[in-house]
Amino acid sequence: MKKHFAILASLSLFLFSVVSAHDGSQLWLQGLAPSAISTLEIANAELNQSWKGAAPVLKLNKSMKALPDGSFSITIQAGTPTIQSASEVGLLYGAYHLIRMQQTGANVRDTALIEQPSYNIRILNHWDNLNGTIERGYAGRSIFWRNSADQMRRNADGEVNEEDLLHPKDAPEIPSFDRLRDYARANASIGINAYVPDNVNASPKVLTAEYLQEVKKMADIMRPYGMKTYLAINFASPMVIGGLSTADPLDKNVQKWWTAKVKEIYKLIPDFGGFLVKANSEGQPGPNDFGRTHAEGANMLAKALKPFKGIVMWRAFVYSPSDPDRAKQAYLEFQPLDGQFLDNVIIQIKNGPIDFQPREAYSALFGAMPQTRQMAEWQITQEYLGHSNHIAYLAPMWTEFLQQVKDIARCPINNQLLAMSNQQSAQGSKLKAQNSKLTAISAVSNVGNSPSWCGNVMAQSNWYAFGRLAWNDELPACQIADEWARLTLFPGRNDAAATKALASVRSLMLRSREAIVDYMMPLGLHHQFAWGHHYGPEPYCDILGARPDWMPSYYARADREGLGFDRSSTGSNATGQYPADYAKVLDDPETCPYDLLLWFHHVPWGKTIQHRCGSKVIRESLWDALCHHYQQGLDEARAMQRDWERCQGLIDADTFADIQRRLRIQTRDAQWWKDGCLLYFQTFSTLPFPDDVEPAVHDLDKLRAIKLGITNYECPSQELLDSVR
Ligand code: GCU
Repeated sequence: MKKHFAILASLSLFLFSVVSAHDGSQLWLQGLAPSAISTLEIANAELNQSWKGAAPVLKLNKSMKALPDGSFSITIQAGTPTIQSASEVGLLYGAYHLIRMQQTGANVRDTALIEQPSYNIRILNHWDNLNGTIERGYAGRSIFWRNSADQMRRNADGEVNEEDLLHPKDAPEIPSFDRLRDYARANASIGINAYVPDNVNASPKVLTAEYLQEVKKMADIMRPYGMKTYLAINFASPMVIGGLSTADPLDKNVQKWWTAKVKEIYKLIPDFGGFLVKANSEGQPGPNDFGRTHAEGANMLAKALKPFKGIVMWRAFVYSPSDPDRAKQAYLEFQPLDGQFLDNVIIQIKNGPIDFQPREAYSALFGAMPQTRQMAEWQITQEYLGHSNHIAYLAPMWTEFLQQVKDIARCPINNQLLAMSNQQSAQGSKLKAQNSKLTAISAVSNVGNSPSWCGNVMAQSNWYAFGRLAWNDELPACQIADEWARLTLFPGRNDAAATKALASVRSLMLRSREAIVDYMMPLGLHHQFAWGHHYGPEPYCDILGARPDWMPSYYARADREGLGFDRSSTGSNATGQYPADYAKVLDDPETCPYDLLLWFHHVPWGKTIQHRCGSKVIRESLWDALCHHYQQGLDEARAMQRDWERCQGLIDADTFADIQRRLRIQTRDAQWWKDGCLLYFQTFSTLPFPDDVEPAVHDLDKLRAIKLGITNYECPSQELLDSVR
């Protein structure tokens, strides 16, 4: 008996340590993903394992059909909750919402609420290659595709063999399905209802019968969680895998090929969502290769998908060098096509006109195509935000964007403009009804097969924040931070110590994005990133024969006079693409928001500007302002370290140590950014640092020589960074 007790005791100790060991794999959820098969069973199982109190009643209520799909209501009377929705998936969302309310300390005795999503499609784009690598992914390898890349040859320094990189052997091996149910559950818990498992730089192979079988298996796992499957496709597929001599969208055989392919897909996956397309961008094929427009290309696919209610998400990330200003390209190519896209095409537009910089002006395309459906694309993976080494909570960036487009472009991504203009047209009401269903928002995921899913636990907050904002785009960033931190870092804790630590985490999260802006791109200066991998500063980058708009100097325009890209009406006139009253504000350096000043203007070094740095509003020369912002960025990185240090002993020890280590890297990187950029720009300004700005600790020539030698899907290790800077 004694022996049994000892075995039992050690077993429970073992179990306890497994459960309490915190590698981040649990995300913001408690318990395990139910192995139930139907959506309703999952909802019940989740409530059974997590809800504490009287058993909730789940009711299908067809009268709620008028609300957007997935909407639900929760009424709690004397502690007994009733969740109602027109659909099972709505009940599932309601179950997760109710559990979240309890776990974050909301009133769960007596309350009544209705929740409905801001966008109908809330989709994650995964830039996962079929060989298992993830473009701009810093959290390990793909959870969808596991392949021969796992066996890529590496040299003694761990670098991947060049030949294997250029020609990955992506013969289908079976995808890695072991985490897919957990992935689906995590998404459902925050209302994400769609995903694209393959890279926008798409391999035609994904449409072969062999791969489609694998996609079907994925779709079957995702379905009960309300997750719809889409695919990124390669426009030249009919040529590469179909044996045709052209992919011209007006060619009858090409059209037939797509029609047959779409049928084949729907036979396997009856609720397939549609295609995501990157065309005529960065070497990807597209309709322009055959003398056709984006609209002709998109519509050809849209016609094939239409009978099955599928859609085309056609990306506007294009920048052929036909205009000297890359920021104008998407607008120049797409705006004239307004009204030409079929109603199951939606144009997917990056939030800003360049490329996911830590701060961008919003893309002028939003609101400029009133007859066309539009959706925003955000980037969760931190391509330009220090990869998974830097802690950057991105909800403040996204809410800033939402505010801009709502205030200035009058909410184009909600298609209100479209609805209004359709109302005035002859077939108004019919179109309006159709169009109002096609609202969407997307983000490039940061998920990989690392134990913490996202490279580190804090990076999970951005996956969470995307889901919450896609569901309700009015939620404040601070509320989302609070929710996420409570659920993830302090589950079940309401004591004073946890509350104090929560305040520190919140402070760290909320200052993180602006800190990064300060040390990477103050005052609207942008794209000063290292060549290729985009980690670390390289304002001095000079690659012989490279496209000018892939070089930092193209964006900084530093010279003896000053700094910044003149996009005013006397420069590239990108300001002219915005609505007239806003264009006027941007056009004048005196009224242009100071945090976009160098985005829109070339400003003399000595010009006095008024700006806010931290909590202070200051009037000083551009040069002094620039120096102060880099200093502020470094100071804030240090403040984030202090915020985190206050949590020692109050957060799981492994998570604490991991984030502590990353914050050290981040602070050293902030110093690198400050020194690299200021020393380099000083060669133009020839001005000294103001007294209250710390002198550089690096040598410019040594910084110029840094080449990290990492791929586009690697985050540099601490050892590598320590060895170079
Ligand atoms: C950026 C990124 C690429 C990506 C591209 C895109 O340019 O660096 O890796 O393919 O965006 O959004 O298509």
